[in-house]
Amino acid sequence: MRSQSQELNILEIERLKKEKNAIILAHYYQTGDIQDIADFVGDSLALSQKASSNSADIILFAGVKFMAETAKILAPDKKVLLPDMNAGCSLADSCKAEDFKIFIKDNPGRTVISYVNTSAEIKALSDIICTSSNAVEIVESLPEDEKILFAPDRNLGNYVLNKTGRDMVIWNGTCHVHEEFSLEAIIRLKKENPKAKIIVHPECEMPVRMVADFIGSTSALLAFTQNDKGNCYIVATEAGIIHQMIKANSKKTYIPGPPVDSTCGCSECNFMKLITVEKIVNCLKNEEPEIKLNRDILLRAQKPILRMLEISEKLGL
Ligand code: 13P
Ligand code: SF4
Repeated sequence: MRSQSQELNILEIERLKKEKNAIILAHYYQTGDIQDIADFVGDSLALSQKASSNSADIILFAGVKFMAETAKILAPDKKVLLPDMNAGCSLADSCKAEDFKIFIKDNPGRTVISYVNTSAEIKALSDIICTSSNAVEIVESLPEDEKILFAPDRNLGNYVLNKTGRDMVIWNGTCHVHEEFSLEAIIRLKKENPKAKIIVHPECEMPVRMVADFIGSTSALLAFTQNDKGNCYIVATEAGIIHQMIKANSKKTYIPGPPVDSTCGCSECNFMKLITVEKIVNCLKNEEPEIKLNRDILLRAQKPILRMLEISEKLGL
């Protein structure tokens, strides 16, 4: 049950969206109340696809900065708003442009594939962008002898390398949420719930990926719980996705994978959780904070993202 102030906030958001021809795009890691007021909820790939094809004048991004920047790069003539500019990403932060330039220089002759969880500057230095939904397919779309430089997530990179066997040099970055899952706690949960399936995001460390029944992006994990015949899942990704899993099938049980240092029993991205409904109301009202990018960086970052979208479209992803 929503409180009266929550109802008023929702009415105000609806009014502002109509008045300003705005849409709200939200990632699966947002809180349930935000996912429920969004016009579109998805993983990074689907959100990029949506950002590049809509008729709104304003996109309010309920997610983190690299996602809002990607929307701005794909829709430069639209106003893109992010309700809290501190909503960053530990993975994106692990790869700074100055250091990345040196890494590229030290590994010449390689096609640079960067995960979408990067700043616009890193995208501008890349040949192709990928998300966790298409990383394997993007790599496989290249000739077999093509040498690859992959950044910034070492776990996703490792997962792709194991799947494809390609020649890959991988940047040593991680996400603070996904590297924290406790293998011991997951195995204990599995013993307590022997029928539960362990489902894991590829940003998780190798030992956790090794015990997985299924590995995939947030949308793939959601689809797996919908299509699978089982009825209990230990979910090793940010706990926000469980909101959609319950909405899709409330009869099944979803157990959040516990982090090593577990005080709450679930794993949350503290950057994602900086966005609140109240901040969304103010952001829509004041039309700020707004994503602003250097034109040259924007245009250079656009090319590798469009290349990803073209490959994805060809492959029906
Ligand atoms: P997805 O693209 O799978 O939604 O992942 C985004 C992300 O930030 C994972 O931590
Ligand atoms: Fe970045 Fe990790 Fe948060 Fe995803 S969960 S946005 S990778 S910090």
